[in-house]
Amino acid sequence: MHVELKDITKTFGTLRANDSLTLSFAEGRIYALLGENGAGKSTLMKILSGYQPPDSGTIFIDGRAVTFQTPADALQCGIGMLHQDPLDVPNLTVLDNFMLGRREGLLPKRKAARQALTAHATRLGFEIDPFRYVDSLTIGERQQLEIVRLLSLGARLLILDEPTTGISAEQKHMLFSALKRLAAEEGMTVILVSHKLEDVAALCQEVYVLRGGKLVGHRHMPTPIDELVTLMFGQSLPRPTRGAHNLGAEILRAESVSLTARRLTVRDLSLSVRSGEVIGLAGLDGSGQSDFLRACAGLQPLNGGRILIAGVPIHGKGYAELLRMGVAYAPSGRLEEGLVDGLTLSEHFALTTNNGLWINWRAANALAARQIARYNIRGAPHSPIQTLSGGNQQRTLIALLPENLRLLLLEDPTRGLDVESTAWVWQQLLARRDQGAAILFTSPDLDEIVTYSDRVLVFCEGRATLVEDLDDSARNPAERLGELIGGKRT
Ligand SMILES: Nc1ncnc2c1ncn2[C@@H]1O[C@H](COP(=O)(O)OP(=O)(O)OP(=O)(O)O)[C@@H](O)[C@H]1O
Ligand SMILES: [Mg+2]
Repeated sequence: MHVELKDITKTFGTLRANDSLTLSFAEGRIYALLGENGAGKSTLMKILSGYQPPDSGTIFIDGRAVTFQTPADALQCGIGMLHQDPLDVPNLTVLDNFMLGRREGLLPKRKAARQALTAHATRLGFEIDPFRYVDSLTIGERQQLEIVRLLSLGARLLILDEPTTGISAEQKHMLFSALKRLAAEEGMTVILVSHKLEDVAALCQEVYVLRGGKLVGHRHMPTPIDELVTLMFGQSLPRPTRGAHNLGAEILRAESVSLTARRLTVRDLSLSVRSGEVIGLAGLDGSGQSDFLRACAGLQPLNGGRILIAGVPIHGKGYAELLRMGVAYAPSGRLEEGLVDGLTLSEHFALTTNNGLWINWRAANALAARQIARYNIRGAPHSPIQTLSGGNQQRTLIALLPENLRLLLLEDPTRGLDVESTAWVWQQLLARRDQGAAILFTSPDLDEIVTYSDRVLVFCEGRATLVEDLDDSARNPAERLGELIGGKRT
């Protein structure tokens, strides 16, 4: 199947999100769509997959002009899209989700559906339990489910919008080999939207680069990473480095903590964190690192042991009380937990400032405007949060963190951010650290963990191992962590 986009334009008010874009995708090839946050990537892919119509321009499939009213139309023509934020229905089982969107009569029986699900999953090397509830799955598992669903519905062109944000290295490896096999053996066309240039280099054969809604480059791989960065941002950026800083009093103490994460129990976790410290939590997706973060925020019960904030046990305290003690938690599922679909930016800031019966709208609007300027968010106080690009939603989440925090608990804080924004967000976070906050964060990106952590807690098979001396060894720290994550003993 050969797909062509011709002169596609899409505006939102006065903003030209896509400006007369012409791109072409051949059968059996793997493409990357690159560009900084807000460049127009998701907008274009939503047009190609029938989620929104273009203002003008045409989509051709094998030379024939097509128009899509709905995603189902696009899927019928063989175009399926995996979204930046999962669209599945969390309180249904895997099997029920798989059966969504299927027309009556196609696969009427649950048993047949289950067999189809398992067959597609096995072909791709995915392990999916049909009877689990979707809200108990990791992001990586939900994504595998969605890919399997799209393939079973006949997708011939698969669009993946930032699929590797939030999944483990192992899941990424599995995903990439499945995609390569689909392209080479079955003629599937793949479009990867990503900020991770190593991923693009590992997977893609051709690259399109957008900037400010315009197409600014088309390259065949291999192309040097520097050249791609220059196309995306207009210049290459220096990488930030870890600096020396002062440690203060103990802020967080975990004593022989035991907690049950999704499938496993983490036992006997002890940790002491001081003001001014950054602790990275590493591990395969779902190894307990996110659950430990949530436990520190009072959002996950313990089986045993205790957690203290500045010497005070948090047992029995809710998140609101911990927030008053200077603890803040930012989850990675942007539109599921951190932000509220349908609310504007001002309304989000109103929620953070509201401490009485009445909302002070003038103050909320002013705060929103201030934070939009300070965090360089592309949006206005009256913009509904879901109209912001993924990266700008993530900036908003960081901007919503209250001032004067003692402990920041961050789940994948730079998920979906381009390189420039990632460096910038960390600059903001390290400024908080320099004011005396302690930071605990998870990330599937080992480079990010190595770059910003003072110490690393590695989660593997129910054990948490503390790595104190990242730079002391002659070996590459990311490699060393990788081995621990994979289960190699020290
Ligand atoms: N429904 C909408 N209403 C108003 N503006 C929108 C809407 N959808 C997108 N935009 C705007 O269009 C621009 C492009 O957004 P888009 O989501 O395509 O960016 P992106 O390249 O995917 O960025 P990111 O890497 O951050 O996900 C942004 O400025 C965004 O705020
Ligand atoms: Mg996007």
